[in-house]
Amino acid sequence: LHIDMVKICCLGAGYVGGPTMAVIALKCPDIEVVVVDIFEPRIIAWNSDHLPIYEPGLDDVVKQCRGKNLFFSKDVEKHVAEADIVFVSVNTPTKTQGLGAGKAADLAYWESAARMIADVSRTDKIVVEKSTVPVKTAEAIEKILTHNSKGINFQILSNPEFLAEGTAIQDLFNPDRVLIGGRETPEGKKAIQALKDVYAHWVPVERIICTNLWSAELSKLAANAFLAQRISSVNAMSALCEATGADISQVSHAIGKDTRIGSKFLNASVGFGGSCFQKDILNLVYICECNGLPEVASYWKQVVQVNEYQKTRFVNRMVSSMFNTVSGKKIAILGFAFKKDTGDTRETPAIGVCQGLLGDKAILSIYDPQVSQEQIQRDLSMHKSELDRPPHLQPASPTAIKQVTCAWDAYEAAKGAHGICILTEWDEFRTLDYQKIYDDMQKPAFVFDGRNVVDVDKLRQIGFIVYTIGKPL
Ligand code: NAD
Ligand code: UGA
Repeated sequence: LHIDMVKICCLGAGYVGGPTMAVIALKCPDIEVVVVDIFEPRIIAWNSDHLPIYEPGLDDVVKQCRGKNLFFSKDVEKHVAEADIVFVSVNTPTKTQGLGAGKAADLAYWESAARMIADVSRTDKIVVEKSTVPVKTAEAIEKILTHNSKGINFQILSNPEFLAEGTAIQDLFNPDRVLIGGRETPEGKKAIQALKDVYAHWVPVERIICTNLWSAELSKLAANAFLAQRISSVNAMSALCEATGADISQVSHAIGKDTRIGSKFLNASVGFGGSCFQKDILNLVYICECNGLPEVASYWKQVVQVNEYQKTRFVNRMVSSMFNTVSGKKIAILGFAFKKDTGDTRETPAIGVCQGLLGDKAILSIYDPQVSQEQIQRDLSMHKSELDRPPHLQPASPTAIKQVTCAWDAYEAAKGAHGICILTEWDEFRTLDYQKIYDDMQKPAFVFDGRNVVDVDKLRQIGFIVYTIGKPL
């Protein structure tokens, strides 16, 4: 290895740290990248043939550079000490206890990472906030680092990540923009330039935006709030469509043609999920409240409330159409991940829908191409505050719920069922042999499509009673 080779260390080998660092390693052969994590099973998995997360294209990128300039290690302190640039990509879940519980971001993992960095550092470092954090976090991190630094110079940058799961590699190869925030001092500017040089290996410089720290931190929360707001807006319209006979797909298409609105991210659904939208909006709401802006806070809070309403509305619609009870009825759940092309189930709307149906004593047979039976059982039986913890703090699996089984494919799940409920838009659900499924079901056979993936006319011809979000019955 070249003696002046830039060394990067990333704390947190999760959905963001893993793919982001793999792409940096691939695009920057002159940089050594080490991803570290305190949760050892994850590191072992990153070093194996079965990566800990499913993401199209990720295997290929990791295979190309692992062992060359990309390494995964549990030796956290050693690699932090050796690094020039330290990315911090640890969990920042919603606080479950104490001040700001249920809204504020829990920065405990971040703070302990910062203290450790200060402890083990012997050379100057650039510390990069990759995790999504409340605006002004860099100020707190700076204090922790400099008050413990023994004369070492730390520069803090905010470099939020905008990748979406399922398309992470594509998003990282070709980002709409890269955002870097830093101090407006000569040292701050030098640090910004150093990180810019890393991304400039493959990102056109005009797409690398440099701002002050607070703009970068807030832009990340703002982007997620705007994106989630679009979904809640279209979902709110879907309820009005069902009440009036308008069709949400037609409405989305018509408004999306306005170039000021744009056509992306206007798909009505059973609700948005994923580890970030809800957490980041609640965090934004809390920051607004702390800054004496209750009107702004309640404006953004509605985005989360409409999302909750959408899930409840869907369950109520299911139960009421199946003659007001699903007690003892088998229902096939197709899709459990929070979106297609990922195995991630954090905050998936499937959890709320399944719990709602179990509350009415349904028997569930669940199929998802990427989610294991163990994960589904954990998600349905554990409390949300336990699921929000980082992997090393999660309790062992509780006893399995008897009314829930998992199936190998959609056909097995639907056998003998009274209804099918589609909760993730996996491509394979568009092309199932629905006639075959219908023949094996109880009659009347219901389809509840929470993602608008099925051909409604075709299914009605087969004989199904079909309910889709935002469309006339
Ligand atoms: P994750 O849970 O998949 O990964 C975080 C990892 O950090 C875990 O493996 C955990 O063991 C590890 N960790 C915790 N404390 C540590 C420490 N002190 N030292 C070393 N490792 C430690 O989470 P994620 O989805 O990768 O999200 C990380 C951050 O990125 C969050 O702030 C999130 O809001 C943000 N983000 C996520 C996405 C996404 O698509 N998932 C996109 C953009 C931003
Ligand atoms: C989202 C953002 O898109 C990323 O830019 C951001 O980096 C990331 O959050 C984050 O900060 O974690 P992600 O949650 O991975 O990415 O996936 P999205 O594609 O945004 O989907 C989120 C949820 O909204 C999914 O449940 C999806 O099914 C739902 N959705 C999305 C809709 O219901 N309708 C749509 O039109 C689009």
